[in-house]
Amino acid sequence: MKKAPVFLALDVNNADQALSLVKQTHPYIFGYKISPRLLFGCGMDIVRNIQPYGKVFLDFKFHDIPSTTVEAVRSAFHLGVDYVTVHSSVGGTTLKQLAALEAELNQTRKFCVLGVTVLSSISGSPDAIHQQVEILAEDVFRSGLKGLVCSPWEVESLKAKYPQAFLVTPGIRFEGDSPDDQARVMRPLEAMKKGSSALVIGRSLLREPVKRSQELAKSLADFC
Ligand code: C5P
Repeated sequence: MKKAPVFLALDVNNADQALSLVKQTHPYIFGYKISPRLLFGCGMDIVRNIQPYGKVFLDFKFHDIPSTTVEAVRSAFHLGVDYVTVHSSVGGTTLKQLAALEAELNQTRKFCVLGVTVLSSISGSPDAIHQQVEILAEDVFRSGLKGLVCSPWEVESLKAKYPQAFLVTPGIRFEGDSPDDQARVMRPLEAMKKGSSALVIGRSLLREPVKRSQELAKSLADFC
């Protein structure tokens, strides 16, 4: 069975819990997302421990001056991370320097900087959010970066405008699951059909990790 284009958000507190999830789901899941909660809870070794099982996505959403952001991203690369997030609103100078860094680091191994647009937990006028996402996306792609994080509600129009882009979408829920604190949500298959390149899923998968990971690998087989 091919792996589903999904990053499982390891939103747990310690290495044992995280690694148990990774070991149970890696035949079906492409990569694993690490947030400050996990890294501060168990230390940097978690990155090396996940590497044999899948891609490592560090979700710290950096937002700082150019030199600080660029060097933080470089350090993440040297730690062994494959994907890293920065806020898209970090500014054109930083985004351009990040694109140059991404090109440089890709000579060693595949590495991707993702610009986070409007968080999937934010509600409000869909048109206003859409407009804001489009502005941020333009900044990201003008800089030379190729990937961003958006909610599944924006993915269709972004895919139409930027067909080559790598669009990562959180805000994913299985049928019947609570949206929890997410606002702009969608089911996995629907989000992929709209044009997502990969999904980020936390709580909906953590409820029944193995069964639901298997289901995902099956239902998303056309996108693997
Ligand atoms: O549990 P749930 O599927 O809502 O988790 C989504 C994960 O994706 C969380 O770890 C959250 O921090 C992250 N995320 C998000 N929205 C973004 C970027 C990242 O929900 N725009």
